[in-house]
Amino acid sequence: MTETRDVALPDTGELYYPDPALVEQSNVMAYARSKGFNSYDELYQWTITHREEFWADMAGELEWFKPWEKVLDDSNKPFYKWFVGGKTNIVYNAIDRHLKTWRKNKLALIWEGEDGSQRTYSYYQLNYEVSRIANVLKSMGVKKGDIVTIYMPRIPELMFSMLACAKIGAAHSVVYGGFSEAALADRLADAKSKVLITADGGYMRGKIVELKKIVNEALARTPTVQTCLVFRHTNHGAPMEQGRDFWMHDLLGLPIANGHCPTEEMDAEDMLFILYTSGTTGKPKGVVHTHGGYMVGTYTTLKFVFDIKDEDRYWCAADPGWITGHSFIVYAPLINGATSFMYEGAPNYPYPDRWWSMVAKHGITILYTAPTAIRGLMRFGDLWPSRHDLSTLRLLGSVGEPINPEAWKWFYEKIGHNRCPIMDTWWQTETGHFMITPTPAVPLKPGSATRPFLGIEVDVVHEDGTPCAPDEDGLLVIKTPWPGMMRTILYDPQRYVEGYWQKVPPYYAAGDSARKDKDGYIWVIGRLDDVIKVSGYRLGTAEVESALVSHPAVAEAAAIGLPHEVKGNAIHAFVILRAGYEPSHELEEKLRAHVGHELGPIARPDSITFVTSLPKTRSGKIMRRVLRARALGLPEGDISTLEE
Ligand code: WT7
Repeated sequence: MTETRDVALPDTGELYYPDPALVEQSNVMAYARSKGFNSYDELYQWTITHREEFWADMAGELEWFKPWEKVLDDSNKPFYKWFVGGKTNIVYNAIDRHLKTWRKNKLALIWEGEDGSQRTYSYYQLNYEVSRIANVLKSMGVKKGDIVTIYMPRIPELMFSMLACAKIGAAHSVVYGGFSEAALADRLADAKSKVLITADGGYMRGKIVELKKIVNEALARTPTVQTCLVFRHTNHGAPMEQGRDFWMHDLLGLPIANGHCPTEEMDAEDMLFILYTSGTTGKPKGVVHTHGGYMVGTYTTLKFVFDIKDEDRYWCAADPGWITGHSFIVYAPLINGATSFMYEGAPNYPYPDRWWSMVAKHGITILYTAPTAIRGLMRFGDLWPSRHDLSTLRLLGSVGEPINPEAWKWFYEKIGHNRCPIMDTWWQTETGHFMITPTPAVPLKPGSATRPFLGIEVDVVHEDGTPCAPDEDGLLVIKTPWPGMMRTILYDPQRYVEGYWQKVPPYYAAGDSARKDKDGYIWVIGRLDDVIKVSGYRLGTAEVESALVSHPAVAEAAAIGLPHEVKGNAIHAFVILRAGYEPSHELEEKLRAHVGHELGPIARPDSITFVTSLPKTRSGKIMRRVLRARALGLPEGDISTLEE
């Protein structure tokens, strides 16, 4: 176990009560009143005793080609099914539905490039762009049920491509554009994708990230890809391979690429996408999400937590390549008919006030980001945000890791000017949508994601499943199913059952340690498995280790996470060299660069220590927690199985 934090963040004892006007006018209280309740707590209790009725209410706000016959089918646990028999398509609700109303001409997306260029798309235009790409995909032989891999910079075409796949019933597998060739190759191979959508490059801090070059190297390692579709963005002359690679702008110029493409009728349980995430082994897990339940879950949580209204300009500053982006940049905002803002580049480019200037320029009302970004921008001082008019903001949000009270307060005071509650949302790639989160009607405690969302039951328990006492550390579990839950791991249902449902049966084990206080507020401590949260990104120690041992100098490697002021955690690696190699500063730099090249810059270790042995169990497993304890000068804990 490599708990990323050893103790929970301090409870400052403060309680922030939401502004009564905000509560009064919130979507969630409107729903509560419609059910005859006067308080959020009463509503929550009702959603627990009437879970299926609650989710059916929410599903009923959306359009179905054919209504469901059963809300929840739990006859084959843990392979739960939602809205059984229902026919829909998430894109029908994200786009087509709005074309029948005034929202047809409402802005769906405002995009700003790092160079300051700007593009906007109404729902009508969004449909046009998505339909054209969908027609190109069809003409390339993509069919319902295929898995198309997408590897793109943060440009509107990333979003369009995802929606185009879903529209024609193909599943997408987005690989984050910050990943590199080995990470991309592994994911392509696991998904057995025949088609890859990418771009020539992207901009980051004024420099071109040569995505297509990385793609070429990855494709040399994975023979499955037959077609590679390339959007032009940086226009720097990317290397193309004849017969395999096609420029999208050429294809989009063909008559076949017209703006009309029917939205495929899908079963509620049909696969919408897979998204790879890190777990305990080196092999990333392809988390499977579906059209129906995921659609209802993401729609509902965004509507009630971020209180989405037609007047809002909503900005989720994540990358669409991670689950936060899938759910809360692409799908949920569109299903809610919202206007979203998306920014291509680095938060401090060209100056540390880039974000704040865009909040003012675009009149952002809701800003959803991660603690690491807040800490990163906080470092530059209060003067940068103070120069900009941030008065349009009404709600703030945080996700990815526990937010430390200093960052929470800075965000609250300097960005939200003590007016905007912070929605600290706990959830996972696997859960699909928010699970533990406030709504505008819940009093906040800085550092806690507060309480489970409507219809969600969580607890903190001992290994045998018995509840922990208040403030006692334990395992975070989810006790009952929810619509956006993962359905399985692609091609590996056994790993789904064992990894999540057999740890603390019959509950879903989240893999986090946590405490629950006397008020029922949850304080997440950190991961219990070999996952490290670096700048909110989820990385597996095993992936970093396997990247290291792929270098000829490395015999064995162990990676751990240690606390870092901005990133939350940073990766530190311990390496045993092969005979003939000597430790040196140059070699350390080479190995760090090698991991960056293989996996991506986010996975580059902060330090590499050369050692001659690693602590292991008798069965040969590296005891990372011992390495960690030693690095932090903490007691080594139970080392009865240690053999060094
Ligand atoms: C892990 C899931 C879901 C969006 C991004 C992360 C940690 C996430 C919080 C939060 C404390 C959090 C947990 C969780 N985490 N949000 N608000 N407070 N911890 O998705 O990459 O699947 O990672 O992120 O450890 O298990 P992910």
